[in-house]
Amino acid sequence: MSTNQSNAPVLEARDLRRDYPVSRGWMKGTATVQALAGVSFSVQAGRTLAVVGESGCGKSTLARLLTMIELPTSGQLMIDGKDVAHADAALRHSLRRQIQIVFQNPYGSLNPRQTVGDALMEPLLVNHLGDATEREAAARAMLRQVGLREEHFNRYPHMFSGGQRQRVAIARALMLKPRVLVLDEPVSALDVSIRAQVLNLLDDLQQALGVAYIFISHDLGVVRHVADDVMVMYLGRCVEQGPRDAVFDNPQHPYTKALLSATPTVDPALRRERVILKGELPSPIDRPTGCPFRTRCPLAFDRCAKEEPALEAQGAQQVACWAVNPVPASPVAAAA
Ligand SMILES: Nc1ncnc2c1ncn2[C@@H]1O[C@H](COP(=O)(O)OP(=O)(O)OP(=O)(O)O)[C@@H](O)[C@H]1O
Ligand code: SF4
Ligand SMILES: [Mg+2]
Repeated sequence: MSTNQSNAPVLEARDLRRDYPVSRGWMKGTATVQALAGVSFSVQAGRTLAVVGESGCGKSTLARLLTMIELPTSGQLMIDGKDVAHADAALRHSLRRQIQIVFQNPYGSLNPRQTVGDALMEPLLVNHLGDATEREAAARAMLRQVGLREEHFNRYPHMFSGGQRQRVAIARALMLKPRVLVLDEPVSALDVSIRAQVLNLLDDLQQALGVAYIFISHDLGVVRHVADDVMVMYLGRCVEQGPRDAVFDNPQHPYTKALLSATPTVDPALRRERVILKGELPSPIDRPTGCPFRTRCPLAFDRCAKEEPALEAQGAQQVACWAVNPVPASPVAAAA
């Protein structure tokens, strides 16, 4: 799913973190949920970075930070090389327009009392772009571009099928011509029969507009289809990232291997022995010391409880695992 454009990243995240204070219960004080515990990546125009991982690993938190719905606790977010944190109000406003989001449930993100035409024109109106005639023309053109028809302009969301509603949500997100679209499980709520149509639409739009996608999904079959690059997350951290084929054909991290082994595949050459993960996903309030995956890892050894592995280059991808990258222990940890 890529059109090759400039090599400069359109979006770059550096060690993004997001904590949430939560109550432990009456008289027990507060605790901190580390929903995102330091994530770095970049994506270029016209390319798709897929973000995968189990429920609760921080995918939607990342989406909220990237779209500036929430601020990071720490870390840097760069859009077109500009640091969001140091932008003045005017620049931040224009950067915010560059990144739009599509949610899993289009019904929740569309106003049931607003016609599709009004929903598409609204972002232009709010941003004082064009006059009424130009806004309507732009909305009608976008409607066609997402495969809907002229007569849909005056209809309400409940008059559409799930797939059509998601087309409307995608159209609305594209009205401001963003450089990046964050897609948070965009086809998970759709019937299997129409998922492929929406995925093909996204592909066509990317080819036509050169927009970059951050594609969040727990469905590895879909990810294999859409991604240029893949980032595998576990407990708020990236444990492996790299080009799609490298990650899928030659996974290195024990968690990636377990995830892929659990994915059904029709191609016998791609079938893997299933790795059953022991134990539950730990709470992000009580993260394990050292490697976040160690409580479930079949390869865990002493060092894993003491030091958290950082992402290191391993073949075409980057992997955070002491078994894969046994780099020398830091003096502090070695002395412990
Ligand atoms: N506002 C909040 N306050 C407290 N905890 C939160 C908040 N938002 C998210 N969390 C916690 O942060 C962790 C990450 O949540 P997030 O929604 O980002 O996960 P996710 O990967 O999107 O999961 P899913 O696949 O279920 O959508 C979870 O443990 C969640 O309970
Ligand atoms: S660092 Fe240790 S616990 Fe973590 S994934 Fe690697 S082997 Fe497993
Ligand atoms: Mg989510």
